[in-house]
Amino acid sequence: MMISLSLGLVVLATGLTVQAYKNPSTSHHRRLLQRVVPEQAQVINWKSFNVLTTVPPPTEANATTLFIPPGHDLASLTEKPFHIYDDEFYNVIGDNPTLTLIANTGTNPMFHEAAVWYPPTDEMFFVQNAGAAAAGTGLNKSNIILKIALHEAAAVSNLRNATGSVNVQTVNAPSIINSNGATNYRDQIVFATAGQGDESTPQLVLMHPREPYNTTILLNNYFGRQFNSLDDVAVNPRNKELYFTDTLYGYLQHYRPTPGLRNQVYRYNDKTGAVAAVADGFTLPNGVTFSPDGSYAYVTDTGANHADWGWNFSDPASIYRFDVKEDGTWDNRKLFAYTDSGVTDGVHCDSDGNVYAGCGDGVQVWNPSGKLVGKIFLGKTSANFNFAGDGRLVILAEEDLYYATLGAAGGGYIEA
Ligand SMILES: *[C@@H]1O[C@H](CO)[C@@H](O)[C@H](O)[C@H]1NC(C)=O
Ligand SMILES: *[C@@H]1O[C@H](CO)[C@@H](O)[C@H](O)[C@H]1NC(C)=O
Ligand SMILES: *[C@@H]1O[C@H](CO)[C@@H](O)[C@H](O)[C@H]1NC(C)=O
Ligand SMILES: *[C@@H]1O[C@H](CO)[C@@H](O)[C@H](O)[C@H]1NC(C)=O
Ligand SMILES: *[C@@H]1O[C@H](CO)[C@@H](O)[C@H](O)[C@H]1NC(C)=O
Repeated sequence: MMISLSLGLVVLATGLTVQAYKNPSTSHHRRLLQRVVPEQAQVINWKSFNVLTTVPPPTEANATTLFIPPGHDLASLTEKPFHIYDDEFYNVIGDNPTLTLIANTGTNPMFHEAAVWYPPTDEMFFVQNAGAAAAGTGLNKSNIILKIALHEAAAVSNLRNATGSVNVQTVNAPSIINSNGATNYRDQIVFATAGQGDESTPQLVLMHPREPYNTTILLNNYFGRQFNSLDDVAVNPRNKELYFTDTLYGYLQHYRPTPGLRNQVYRYNDKTGAVAAVADGFTLPNGVTFSPDGSYAYVTDTGANHADWGWNFSDPASIYRFDVKEDGTWDNRKLFAYTDSGVTDGVHCDSDGNVYAGCGDGVQVWNPSGKLVGKIFLGKTSANFNFAGDGRLVILAEEDLYYATLGAAGGGYIEA
């Protein structure tokens, strides 16, 4: 049923005028009432699983397991990875979305977090998993920063599996210990680091994204006290300040001491040096981003995943949205989305304000009202990903690195 739908023309709304795909370059003008399901896409019908024959208990079906809707199997879900849950997803994926596996490292989780595009060289930077046993990182060993040239990925986007064709290069940047989050800042890249042991404190570090990758530390303490483990950082497009999350994953992976500060989100003003807490009440705050106009902040809470301590499924796997006031403070905390798979980790917006998060089965996409519109299904966890400008996405999935092309454009490269 589901598979036959994906092969034919789907009438999405009856009795409405059919309009042509008028302006592919301006996503605001995409108004499509009838579409052909793209070759690498398929429709997933919610009604097909509203009522299941058997619904297993949490010991069998939980946030760590993949849900396979009736009529599908893992192969059919990964074969056509762009899963349409709502008609709005057609605008996100465009006419011919593609997904390409561009690297695989066996067991080493090289492709983890901190994906950030550097437009002047058209490269994507990202980092290895800090603290994962298979990564060989942890207490006395830092993770490594890597990059790829996007033209190499684009050259193989017609293939589904192009492992070996893209050169994954190591970046030898000094003084960046256990980096986890990153964003473009002042034409360079700022990393949020988780620190290491008692001595190496978490910090915000600016890196020049070209040889010799010189670094400058922007912030390494809160009134003389160590942050717990910084996780992610984003620039608010309106006030250009850095907002960053401090969480417990260094402690929960045994490479940072017992936490000395609350789990929360801070803001940092580079001009005055002022640091202030802006939001708390999280279990494990993780990703942070802003809507393209800077009026909303999104924070993911990966509280359900306690790393080395296991899972607690009644804790958050959720995205919270805040209004960003003119003075840069946050208001009106709202539950925006709760993922069905894993936890919502890295989070980014596209230029239309749709919200994407790395989840247990790939990248999930919600419209600005928090409606799930679709998934880029990998069948495994993506902790983070990022846009490389218009229509290009790099998706990190630990041992696997993916390149995707789609209709949506990135939320913007902020000149801070
Ligand atoms: C979640 O489900 C998986 C797969 O059935 C199972 O192996 C695991 O033990 C479950 N987790 C918990 C905490 O029950
Ligand atoms: C880390 O280094 C310290 C000091 O050299 C040493 O005492 C400790 O055993 C090392 N820990 C690990 C996990 O290798
Ligand atoms: C991708 O291709 C490589 C090289 O041929 C192969 O070893 C690997 O198993 C393939 N991976 C998948 C997911 O098909
Ligand atoms: C790195 O060095 C260049 C050239 O001196 C300088 O323009 C840049 O600001 C430096 N970046 C950092 C992060 O230290
Ligand atoms: C899960 O979290 C809830 C809420 O904090 C707590 O009451 C419960 O004891 C936790 N369960 C486990 C197994 O850690």
